[in-house]
Amino acid sequence: MPVIAFANSKGGSGKTTSALLLACALAETKATTIIDADPRHPITAWAAMPGTPERLSVVTNQSEKTILDEIEAASTRDPFVIIDLEGTASRLMSYAISQADLVIIPMKEQQQDALAALDVIQEIHRDMKATRRKIPYAVLFTQSRAAVKSRTARHIASQFRDNPAIDTFDVEIHERDAFAAIFAIGGAVSALDASKVNGLDKALENVEGLRAEVIRKLRALQDGETGRAVA
Ligand SMILES: Nc1ncnc2c1ncn2[C@@H]1O[C@H](COP(=O)(O)OP(=O)(O)OP(=O)(O)O)[C@@H](O)[C@H]1O
Ligand SMILES: [Mg+2]
Repeated sequence: MPVIAFANSKGGSGKTTSALLLACALAETKATTIIDADPRHPITAWAAMPGTPERLSVVTNQSEKTILDEIEAASTRDPFVIIDLEGTASRLMSYAISQADLVIIPMKEQQQDALAALDVIQEIHRDMKATRRKIPYAVLFTQSRAAVKSRTARHIASQFRDNPAIDTFDVEIHERDAFAAIFAIGGAVSALDASKVNGLDKALENVEGLRAEVIRKLRALQDGETGRAVA
């Protein structure tokens, strides 16, 4: 039932990749729908290749006029609904945010991504006013280096991590071959061949870390407020 939207108006910030990683990880145990609300339909193209997990349904969004119905239908059917949004601010984006139990804001540790993440946070606050309900959100650093970070990356990350008003994920999605490979060959990271993809074990650990932290956040929200039940 929880609806998790991935939003950042900066293109290439890692929305589609992290949304799909989370959706596949959740679908290992629970029925999950991912709504592909990017007009270029990257997830729909991925699902046309072999290996889509059995418990994962892909819904291709038609337009901003249908998104609310698509979210409602998916959330009454499945324990988890993930929405992948396009890389520009739009009415569709605020419709999706208005329905979300958690908005994940993926961003690279780069200035342009940081500015766009702050824009999305302002948008979420406007949507909270419009809907008169709390919409929890958290920043997820993506495409980060698994080894030593640059000074700039550390500086940008600390501006978010040290800000008590902004929730951030402890886990980061690292730059990994496996996370790009799934878009070329289809299926989940867990189905990749370890002899063909570098660092597959680390990639799987990373995805599990994301899944576990999302569940922890949803549980904490559910305990703290009138949130919807977590499966
Ligand atoms: N963690 C990662 N490891 C390796 N490659 C990645 C990772 N995250 C993203 N990429 C690559 O970076 C590019 C942009 O990522 P992605 O499509 O996830 O971003 P996006 O925010 O959805 O972009 P858009 O705004 O255009 O929808 C893609 O080519 C993707 O394969
Ligand atoms: Mg995308």
